[in-house]
Formats: sequence, C-alpha cells, structure tokens
Amino acid sequence: MASRNDSNFMDTIVSLCKRRGFVFPASEIYGGIGNTYDYGPLGVELKRRVKEAWWTRTVTMRDDVVGLDSAIIQNPKTWETSGHVAGFTDPMVDCKKCKSRFRADKLEDARCPERPSKRPGECGNELTEPRAFNLMFKTQVGAVEGAGSIAYLRPETAQGIFLNFKNVVESSRMKPPFGIGQIGKSFRNEITPGNFVFRTREFEQAEMEFFLPPEQNDHWYQYWRTERHQWYLDFGIDPSRLRMREHAPDELAHYSTGCTDVEYEYPFGWGELEGIACRTDFDLKRHSEASGKDLRWFDPDTKQKYFPWVVEPAAGVDRTALTFLIDAYDEEKVEDETRVVLRFHPEIAPITVGVLPLVKKEGMPEKALEIDRELRRGRYATFYDESAAIGRRYRRLDEVGTPYCVTIDGDTMKDDVVTVRERDTMQQERVKVGELRSWLADRIATWKRPERKS
Ligand code: GAP
Repeated sequence: MASRNDSNFMDTIVSLCKRRGFVFPASEIYGGIGNTYDYGPLGVELKRRVKEAWWTRTVTMRDDVVGLDSAIIQNPKTWETSGHVAGFTDPMVDCKKCKSRFRADKLEDARCPERPSKRPGECGNELTEPRAFNLMFKTQVGAVEGAGSIAYLRPETAQGIFLNFKNVVESSRMKPPFGIGQIGKSFRNEITPGNFVFRTREFEQAEMEFFLPPEQNDHWYQYWRTERHQWYLDFGIDPSRLRMREHAPDELAHYSTGCTDVEYEYPFGWGELEGIACRTDFDLKRHSEASGKDLRWFDPDTKQKYFPWVVEPAAGVDRTALTFLIDAYDEEKVEDETRVVLRFHPEIAPITVGVLPLVKKEGMPEKALEIDRELRRGRYATFYDESAAIGRRYRRLDEVGTPYCVTIDGDTMKDDVVTVRERDTMQQERVKVGELRSWLADRIATWKRPERKS
C-alpha cells in the first residue's frame, strides 16, 4: 500500500493523475517540454472547482469585493514601475563544463547532471560567480522587432488590479475598505521548476487586492489571514498539515509591514500555498508617480485624498489543486483488496455523482440515463457507467474521488427508489428518485472530512 511517508509517494500521485486524466505532461508526443503540464478532463474540472470555490467565497458572497480580468500583456512600463524589471530575479550559477544552470541559493537541493550523487560544484567542475537572472518571459509586440516592441508576460496578476484601481472605483463606486479579485495565468521563467505542478513556468493565480484606510491595516491583515486559513479547512484540508508562517522582518519587502504564508506539509516538505501580504500604498503610489495619473482615493467624508493601503491574499490555483489531490489520497484494505480513494470535499470533486445501472438489461440503462440527465439539469457533474461489475465501478469512481454513486436496480423499476452509496463510509441508503437532488444538496452542505488512519 502506498503511504504518504514513502519516498515515491509523489510518483503514485503523478501516475494516478496520468492514468485517470487529471494531468498529462505537455507536448508529450514530441517528448514533452520540461516541467510543463496539461490538465485532462478530470484535472480541468478539479481546477475549475478550486477557482469556483475561491471566487464564490472571495468575490460572489461578499459585497465588498468585485472581480476583474486584466490583460496578460500590459504596457511594459507596468513592470518597470512595479520593480519586476530590475528586481524580479533569482541568483544563478552556471557549470563551466556541462553548461547547466542552477539557482545559487538552492545548490543544496540540486544535483550535478553528470554525477547525480554530487551537488553542482562538488562534482569537480567549476561554477561561475552568481548572476541575477530575470524570471519574466519577454515577447515582441507588433510586426517590427526592436527594443521599443519588447513586452512581458505578466509574472503575477496583481499589477493588473493596481492599474485598474481608478477604473473600478469610478465604474463600480466602491469605497475603501474594498477588494478587487482576479484569477488568471501568470508566467515565470523558473530555472528550477519541480515537484510536479507545484512549481511550473506557466500557472494560475487567484489574487485579491484589498484596499483600505491605513489605520485599518492590522485589522484586515488579521482578518484575511484567518479567512484564508479557514477556507482551506472548510474544503477539507487536514488541519495538522496546514500552518501559518509569519515572515521574519528581514524576509519582508522594504515597503511591507507584514506577510504570512499559508503552508502545507507536502510529501517533499513544507511548502507555500499562498501568501497574505501587507503591501502598504507602495504599488498605487509608484504607478501614480510613473503614469502621472492621480490614483489617490478621495474620501467624501473627510474631504481628504490618500493612497489606500493594501492587504493581498495571493494563492496559486495549480498548487491548491495539487494540495487537494495529495491531501485527499487515501488507501484502505477492504476484504482482500486495496481501495484507493480520493476523499475530496464534494464541492471540489471533479465528478459529484456516478450513475450506475446494476445490469445492462430490463430497462435499467434507460432509467439510469433518465436520472443522469435529470441530475445534469440540476447542475450536478455526473458520470454514467454501465461497464463491469458494480463493485469494480464503485472502485473506479472512488479512485477519482466521486462522493456519491446512484445505483438503479430491479426494485427501482418498480418503486422509483435508487440506492445511493457514499464514498467515504461505503454505506448505502435507499432514496426516492424525486428526492435525489435535495438529498444530494443536503449531504454536500453537511459533508465532514472523515477521520483517517493514514
Ligand atoms: N502578487 C504576489 C505574488 O505573486 P507569490 O508568492 O510570488 O506572490 C503567489 O505568488 C502564489 O502563486 C504562491 O503562493 C504560489 O501558490 C503561486 N505560485 C508562485 N509561483 C509559482 C510557480 N512557479 N508555479 C506554481 N505556482 C506558483
């Protein structure tokens, strides 16, 4: 049985993701492109649910946060002003012999490609002095190449929010304290990506800039720390593997008054899932100075203008999806078999209901398809499966984390009652077809993370 403590546990996750259509290596038929991944049918649903869960809680359910979808390629002055052109760098060293490149501050974790038992530099080959390597991807805009046409793929979604601060205030009449949330792709030319989709060059972020009167900074910083921590717990993440790590003063950016990382204990060690940062008025002030546009907020009560301060919860969507996958993975012995089960929260599970006719005759498939259609109309993500023995079908759906299976049997044809099997307990209950949707809604709303032995 695979356990989280096994050194190859990540291989188990990667293999499940490929086999069941969560995540595929990108450009696989051409030999791939290092550490880049595509999301398959179940992966795209999982990620969609992660984004939906974030957006619903952070934007839709609140009257003080609105949404935005800003461009990936912005005017390059954006990145000069934000400090990314000059400072968004990693220190790199090159091996003078094999020409491999490594992060100077991560040599401890790196391996020489020619002698993998050694670290770079310990293998007998000489390394160059560290040099700053900018992580932004450059591209050309327009038909003429040249310095004037250079642009960048955004390395974070946050700056698009600052650029639109005035537009949002004027169009939506929002007043501090209020937030602007955004989900979208970001790009970083990471030299040492790794640990599957934990660190990649192309990834999605879910970021929110919360603009506030400076004197409310401490209140909102604590508020968003608590709220974001609770979000992971509410969606079933193991509390013992989640921690809040407050940055030491020497880790903070020069303009920041505080930052906390939400960290998860991955099989490869503790890692950052999300950062909640106090950015003060740094970004709005800088963009105001550089653009010549006044980005101060006019407070009609005090008749004063000021730059709002910002608290920013910034999460990685791919990292969150990976965390849900790893955290959900469980194995248990059932009779002589090992049952692999992803114990996703039902709102995170890519498929919510499996619809299974007991046998392929006596009108059961037709009845099952009718129920399947009815559930889909009610916006439930279903999967209809009529092939193989019922036990085997349950196992296949357990392995992709489907919380409920509806079985249509001979009795259903007489009394219009189905058997619903719950993934976590494997317990079965008879439910009237007409009450199925409300039964499911109730179970989903009251779902609790099951006690786990592993
Ligand atoms: N605007 C602030 C900002 O971008 P960050 O800590 O650099 O902060 C926020 O990024 C989150 O984005 C991280 O906590 C992580 O979850 C995710 N992230 C950052 N770089 C990533 C990468 N190369 N691959 C996957 N996710 C990444």
